[in-house]
Amino acid sequence: MQAKDRIILALDVDTAQEALGLVKQLTDYVGAFKIGMQLFNSAGPDIVRQVHELGGKVFVDLKLHDIPNTVGSAGKVLTRLNSFMFNVHAAGGREMMRKVARDASEEAMKLGIGAPLILAVTVLTSISAQELAEEMYVTDMKVEELVVKWALMAQESGLGGVVCSPREIVPIRQACGSDFKIVTPGIRPLWSAANDQKRITTPRQALEMGADYMVIGRPIVQAEDPREAALKIINELEA
Ligand code: C5P
Repeated sequence: MQAKDRIILALDVDTAQEALGLVKQLTDYVGAFKIGMQLFNSAGPDIVRQVHELGGKVFVDLKLHDIPNTVGSAGKVLTRLNSFMFNVHAAGGREMMRKVARDASEEAMKLGIGAPLILAVTVLTSISAQELAEEMYVTDMKVEELVVKWALMAQESGLGGVVCSPREIVPIRQACGSDFKIVTPGIRPLWSAANDQKRITTPRQALEMGADYMVIGRPIVQAEDPREAALKIINELEA
């Protein structure tokens, strides 16, 4: 994989106009664009088609979590949009993950297109050990253990990878092997501001720990010259 293809640019904006402006500028400098609930819910699913028209691939980051049939059906719709990746919560359970993996792959086959890479979100990185114990009543396990268990369950259910924090890359890679895709946010080159990210990793460190893809937003989007910022990251990854 080329270094550029590892970068997923987070389109954390409200309007299609802003998003498409970024896509036009950066399609040749990143591997894909992440459309999350902010942009998807304001611009609608047609934004995925519009990004495709400009030559970009799309990670639809909607973190689906519902009964198996509902998530399976939504997975078919996201497959029809020809998304490159989308994600579901591992907390939805084994049956839900199996169903969405099966439904998306059947739909892709029917359409004669490649099946999207479906990723599991394990424990949200915003959840602390204390919240896990006091609000989710998981008292017999550390966050990292639960993350690895859920990553394995996602893999056994037929999903292709996980989204996780940089600090979880190594144990997940160890447990799930080299084919399982690991996508990580919380990436900050040394020359950029941390913003609200607390446990950060440079692109190079994430790559060395075993990440396949990195989600990067503000270090590129808020740079004076976003293309130059993306190029700098590419160079660091290739160094
Ligand atoms: O601007 P920044 O590089 O911090 O953007 C990171 C992107 O990754 C945002 O879209 C954010 O919602 C997402 N994300 C994250 N940390 C997580 C999960 C997702 O920063 N644990």
